[in-house]
Amino acid sequence: MASKEILLLVLCWGFVVLATTSFGANVTYDHRAVVIGGKRRVLISGSIHYPRSTPEMWPDLIQKSKDGGLDVIETYVFWNLHEPVRNQYNFEGRYDLVKFVKLVAEAGLYAHLRIGPYVCAEWNFGGFPLWLHFIPGIQFRTDNEPFKAEMQRFTAKIVDMMKQEKLYASQGGPIILSQIENEYGNIDSAYGAAGKSYIKWAAGMALSLDTGVPWVMCQQSDAPDPIINTCNGFYCDQFTPNSNNKPKMWTENWSGWFLSFGGAVPYRPVEDLAFAVARFFQRGGTFQNYYMYHGGTNFDRTSGGPFISTSYDYDAPLDEYGLIRQPKWGHLKDLHKAIKLCEAALVATDPTYPSLGPNLEATVYKTGSGLCSAFLANIGTNSDVTVKFNGNSYLLPAWSVSILPDCKNVVFNTAKINSVTLVPSFSRQSLQVAADSSDAIGSGWSYINEPVGISKDDAFTKPGLLEQINTTADQSDYLWYSLSTNIKADEPLLEDGSKTVLHVQSLGHALHAFINGKLVGSGYGSSSNAKVTVDFPIALAPGKNTFDLLSLTVGLQNYGAFYEKTGAGITGPVQLKGSGNGTNIDLSSQQWTYQTGLKGEELNFPSGSSTQWDSKSTLPKLQPLTTFDAPAGSEPVAIDFTGMGKGEAWVNGQSIGRYWPTYVSQNGGCTDSCNYRGAYSSNKCLKNCGKPSQSLYHVPRSWLKSSGNTLVLFEEIGGDPTKISFVTKQLGSSLCSHVTDSHPLPVDMWGSDSKIQRKPGPVLSLECPNPNQVISSIKFASFGTPLGTCGSFSRGRCSSARSLSVVRQACVGSKSCSIGVSVNTFGDPCKGVMKSLAVEASCT
Ligand code: GAL
Repeated sequence: MASKEILLLVLCWGFVVLATTSFGANVTYDHRAVVIGGKRRVLISGSIHYPRSTPEMWPDLIQKSKDGGLDVIETYVFWNLHEPVRNQYNFEGRYDLVKFVKLVAEAGLYAHLRIGPYVCAEWNFGGFPLWLHFIPGIQFRTDNEPFKAEMQRFTAKIVDMMKQEKLYASQGGPIILSQIENEYGNIDSAYGAAGKSYIKWAAGMALSLDTGVPWVMCQQSDAPDPIINTCNGFYCDQFTPNSNNKPKMWTENWSGWFLSFGGAVPYRPVEDLAFAVARFFQRGGTFQNYYMYHGGTNFDRTSGGPFISTSYDYDAPLDEYGLIRQPKWGHLKDLHKAIKLCEAALVATDPTYPSLGPNLEATVYKTGSGLCSAFLANIGTNSDVTVKFNGNSYLLPAWSVSILPDCKNVVFNTAKINSVTLVPSFSRQSLQVAADSSDAIGSGWSYINEPVGISKDDAFTKPGLLEQINTTADQSDYLWYSLSTNIKADEPLLEDGSKTVLHVQSLGHALHAFINGKLVGSGYGSSSNAKVTVDFPIALAPGKNTFDLLSLTVGLQNYGAFYEKTGAGITGPVQLKGSGNGTNIDLSSQQWTYQTGLKGEELNFPSGSSTQWDSKSTLPKLQPLTTFDAPAGSEPVAIDFTGMGKGEAWVNGQSIGRYWPTYVSQNGGCTDSCNYRGAYSSNKCLKNCGKPSQSLYHVPRSWLKSSGNTLVLFEEIGGDPTKISFVTKQLGSSLCSHVTDSHPLPVDMWGSDSKIQRKPGPVLSLECPNPNQVISSIKFASFGTPLGTCGSFSRGRCSSARSLSVVRQACVGSKSCSIGVSVNTFGDPCKGVMKSLAVEASCT
């Protein structure tokens, strides 16, 4: 034993010599490890963005991350939240970064702080505050003095804050890494030489802040030493850092993909995600981060895009509401344990690659001190292959990696899920309107009509059509373009009568057109093309006509070179076209009157406190307000906005985000069971086609009182608020598992004595999701060749007659149970056939 330790120490010393740089006392690196306090580590990390949940949710999210096997929590820092007005900071509530990092530390986890301050992140304007755009002479993300000064000021502010709280690992805190910039290498060619010097400057600036822990730049192959260049993507096994002294790090492994209004819901099968992670560590990875581990919610007007939805669920291991997503969470947890069983060998040596054959790869980490861990991969997409390795046979399913912590026994295969599947369930209830509410169509709703056109004192008139973002500074989604113009009675256009067409071209993102106070039509762009061009048939009268065009943004651009220059709004032309006689009046350069935002925003209607709410007359099904009781219990709550059009919603004055249930995704391209074999891409696995992209909107529990809650909606299109309902989400009472007789043993049963742990064979384990539940019934059990998936299992041609009774006996009445998946337990219903055990159970 003693001699092993000495050998290991000698090896470590060798790597320390290799490293060119060491930072503060505690965190260093070399090409095989991140070294924390002298300990060589491979690290599993997950992104949780603090403002996408609430401080009340943070401890639970962090604990579930820890339980899932994470070592590190990664978050961006969101400049536009913290400094909404230049030099006025906000670190309260959901923006309390220090509290978040401290909670990470309290849970015993490390933090990776991605300061950016450009973050992308499907976040409004990529995280930059709007005032930055208005600094004279500014150019974002390039060698530009005004920009660099502001970027440095904010970055230094955050670093100082962390230092003051002693949050860097070099000070004994949890932060082991920080990031500067974000994926600049993806777009830097557009900035030419100035981009190159900007990155050098950013590196030097970051280093000068002296955090005592390493800095990283992601997707930046020319990141200057000692900054570590890291990889983002669905796979990063082929990535190599730009120096032999740097560890191979993966800052964004996309656990799914983001959702856009108008899009279908993306998901990423866990077999593929686990495959990508295992391949990364197989090929020398040292740090891997799930982007996202918890995606959460884009509350308020924080979503970017344009057209990013309010949900940022991301198909992450923790769902939008913070519930574990099974089997994703559990399968990755098993994977993390398997990788950790290899950690000592992984950090101690370079691998060798004994040849296995085409599309196959064996990787061996063998140290002089007798440690040996191996990965066996089948990267073929079609055939399962049996390979010979070190004299033993291993069956490798297509597109899978087996992990052998001792170079002999398989503890985990990425395609073989031991974890349970839980199908979440939703309980629906209608809005319990408080008894004292007045009775607009018996609903308890009250409303105020938002005036069409100019209604605020700060409106102004200018010739021509203005770009929207430069006009509103994003103070609101809404900008009115209003014009009152005389149409002469002998105007040839009028000859056409009702055939006149209003032609409007807008850079986006959506618009509603009113003529003489009446809505004549709406149009909106999409996430792939924000522009809107509309031709509405209209009827004009001789004399004065008013044109009120409400233009709106749906989240500002967050990605791309020069993205801050992407405009929005009605930049024209705006024309009246007589369809028959070819006449055309161009209104573009007339004197337009502009109003940023709505009257209701100015009067702070979102708080619900105004005395002007009208509840007496018939509900116009527009702009409503009501008070309601919260659904009982502690389960996560969502509002189902089906029946409404588009707008924004506030609960007790807190914005729960934009809602848009009428934006439906395309009909084609979805599949409920996507083949995980083969390279994943963001549109490979989609669900929910032909349905609203998002109908459920998260209302954090902590924003609700048990009764007397106020819900305020601003509804643009019109909808029926009486159709709104509440949904609570819980982990279903039904749980399933399906384990074959060729599955590895559960990773928890890995023992130091490999001979003992080989004996029992695969095991199917069930555990009720909630602590006070027991398994109450077995809905299905079959050992043989069962078919189908959770919720629709059926017996195959072969099934042991004892299946149900054995499983019942082992499980009913217990909180958890484990059953050997073998003929020893069930007898052999069909000799010579590969068998499996499928179970569906209920917990109460
Ligand atoms: C990356 C970016 C992230 C996020 C992600 C997609 O390119 O760094 O911030 O936008 O794409 O979800």
